Amino acid sequence: MKMITRRDFLKASAVVGATAALTACGGGDSSSTAASSTASSAPASSAAEEPAEEAAGGATIGICIYQFADNFMTLYRADLEEYLGELGYAVTIMDGKNDQSTQTEQINTFLQQGVDVLIINPVQTTSAQTIVDTISPSGIPIVFINREPDKAVLDSYPDKCCYVGADARQSGTYQGELILETETQGDINGDGVITYIMCKGDPENIDAQYRTEYSIKALTDAGKQVECLYEYLDNWDQTLAQQDVANALAQYGEQIEVVFCNNDAMALGALQSIQQVGRTVGTDIYLVGVDALADAVQAVMDGNMTGTVLNDDVGQATAATEATRLYVEGEPVEQYYWVDYVKVTPENAAEYL
Ligand code: BGC
Repeated sequence: MKMITRRDFLKASAVVGATAALTACGGGDSSSTAASSTASSAPASSAAEEPAEEAAGGATIGICIYQFADNFMTLYRADLEEYLGELGYAVTIMDGKNDQSTQTEQINTFLQQGVDVLIINPVQTTSAQTIVDTISPSGIPIVFINREPDKAVLDSYPDKCCYVGADARQSGTYQGELILETETQGDINGDGVITYIMCKGDPENIDAQYRTEYSIKALTDAGKQVECLYEYLDNWDQTLAQQDVANALAQYGEQIEVVFCNNDAMALGALQSIQQVGRTVGTDIYLVGVDALADAVQAVMDGNMTGTVLNDDVGQATAATEATRLYVEGEPVEQYYWVDYVKVTPENAAEYL
């Protein structure tokens, strides 16, 4: 029997009362077409059997994701596709392929098509103002997700632009706390110093910056001494982190007590290298990530990761769907929607699988 997890629960409550209706539009090469929760090339699903009511006006929504090949954003976009589809909206999702000019072209195509709302996960947060300036003459509302633009950017398009995200300071703090909650409080060799390496995401991304800063701040705020051996620029990427942690283990060996990773993809890469050299998480090294990807949650349950932090894709996609619906229906929209992170430990991990 399948246990009802928090994700299931949130998913069940995410449907904001609309009948699913298939209002699919033509599938482009790198786009996927929703109104059902299917992948890009999947044929019309059971949603087609529902009466094609034009729920909430049958709006068209364009979504720009910075890169499909990102584990966390893959969960997030599947949620968005599902929830917006359940509202009867026709949804097209484009892959920015981690290239801002590709994403800008995609935005221009959506503008020509005259979509009702754009949901944008910018490739470069620093391009957010240019994105707003491109879109604002059309009057099309924007829901920024995942990569927080400056407040001035949101202010420049009043009542038409909002941000849905999670405060990355909280996730960093939780990572530090996970280390403080271990038996040795992160100081495995008992020399009074927590010695660590850090695998960082995209340096331009506020999530990477805050997680790097606040994970360590939690330790120093608790009166701990810390030593950073090296900060690696791994760009949220599992393979890069695997290579860098392998090198770090070869170079620093037993000195490394904690491996902090700004996300779980990199933590899973780090774990591969940790296991390869015969080190044991929880015994002679600690490892933390962020996102609560299924593989990472499993690793926490198995004792192969010290902990992770739930980056609530369900909650964020629910909030982004709600903001979109409000724009479609001409209702007032807040400027910010924040979703809490949650600490995931061996004790509660099963709830997040
Ligand atoms: C997630 C990362 C992801 C990044 C993309 C972060 O919030 O934790 O896993 O790669 O967003 O912008």
